[in-house]
Amino acid sequence: MHIDPVLSPDDLVLVKNAAAACLNAYAKYSGFAVGSAVRTSTGHIYLGANVENVSYPVGTCAERNAIAAAVAAEGPNVRITSITVVARSKGADAACSPCGACRQAILEFGLDATVIYRGSDLLMRQTNARALLPMPFE
Ligand code: THU
Repeated sequence: MHIDPVLSPDDLVLVKNAAAACLNAYAKYSGFAVGSAVRTSTGHIYLGANVENVSYPVGTCAERNAIAAAVAAEGPNVRITSITVVARSKGADAACSPCGACRQAILEFGLDATVIYRGSDLLMRQTNARALLPMPFE
């Protein structure tokens, strides 16, 4: 896995956690395995992977599964300070930023959350939740 050296040590930990979750993805229909890790204001990290289904729309994204794990562990007032997403396809790292639905879900719990993802040049990049979804539903 290529990791951009500009990431902070804390961000690197999050990326490595997301990569571990990615290995556990259930992506038998798309072959696109996604892992996500969120850090909350308590400093804890929660993981998610995409979980597909034979009935395709039933599948869920890694990021929203990670957010669900954070809510289940810390309750409805949980705050997300950063979230990472990584993906693999055909045995190689793949570009992946959160889909539109996940962007809306991230904003719900982290208006100022840092979002770390792999860009189309395959380097890890950082942005924030508001920048990813400039006109969210509120
Ligand atoms: N996927 C995610 O888990 N997160 C995203 O942000 C984009 C897409 C999953 C959904 C599906 O299981 C697979 O990637 C291919 O779309």
